Amino acid sequence: MGLRHNEARTLPSSVIQRLQSLAGERLGLESREGKELLISNRAGRHMRKLGISSPEEYLRVVEADPEGGAARELLDLLTTNHTAFWREPSHFRWFAEYLAALPARRTITVWCAAASTGEEPHTLAMLAHEVFGAAAPRRVRVLATDVSTRVLETAEQAIYTSERVSALPDRLARRYFEPGRGRWRNHLRVGSSVREMVHFRWLNLTGPFPRMGPYPVVFCRNVMIYFSPELRARMVGKLFDTIEPSGYLLVGHAEGLVGIESVASPVQTAVYRKRAT
Ligand SMILES: C[S@@+](CC[C@H](N)C(=O)[O-])C[C@H]1O[C@@H](n2cnc3c(N)ncnc32)[C@H](O)[C@@H]1O
Repeated sequence: MGLRHNEARTLPSSVIQRLQSLAGERLGLESREGKELLISNRAGRHMRKLGISSPEEYLRVVEADPEGGAARELLDLLTTNHTAFWREPSHFRWFAEYLAALPARRTITVWCAAASTGEEPHTLAMLAHEVFGAAAPRRVRVLATDVSTRVLETAEQAIYTSERVSALPDRLARRYFEPGRGRWRNHLRVGSSVREMVHFRWLNLTGPFPRMGPYPVVFCRNVMIYFSPELRARMVGKLFDTIEPSGYLLVGHAEGLVGIESVASPVQTAVYRKRAT
């Protein structure tokens, strides 16, 4: 056991540096101090899972096909997927008010970029139910994307522990989940009327966007914090390009945007409204 543990911590620094630059190019992950250990541990685990014993051989496999299975799996392992129901609740209150003020018969698609395991986009769909009742699936669609195939699989299952669900206001927790049975005891599944409104897709925010939008609302919360300031600035520009005039961009509370006065103005904490022209 001791040996395996050491192995994981001691990928040669030349290998770690190459993996770090791959993560930078592909994910926009900023090379920060302290990231070496994380990369070394996670890549070491991945290397053993693939049955490879030499770090140099592992690097060859990952670099041989940067778009392929091994590279994608590694990048997946390097993402930070922390999320929770009702995280930064003022945004959900804002969204419910936004929906309530939508003109009658307007239908919208909301983009939830960096959706992780689905707590955020599912909550947006629940709020649409709160506002529009049975008409919600006709009025609102949620496009939820992430670069990690692992979290997308979990998100599509839409099964969460009761403890995670308990972060939601009681009313939502009671109305929009079905209890699990057997081995899913202590778990809850998002009900089908909510699930049918959310569509999950793989998308790397640092790569080119397919033709998207224009969306009235884009949630892109708690992901740009991992990007370099230059990439963040470029990303904000790309995100606003997908938003309709007078539409909204929501970012994480710790990700306040600066220098965007010509494009958008702040309306409340980490909510920005694109200019009309
Ligand atoms: C910390 S979670 C935030 C989840 C959610 N938005 C929230 O605020 O709770 C960040 C998510 O961004 C995803 N991510 C990281 N880099 C990405 C990229 N380049 N393109 C798309 N998603 C990315 C990760 O896989 C992860 O699921």
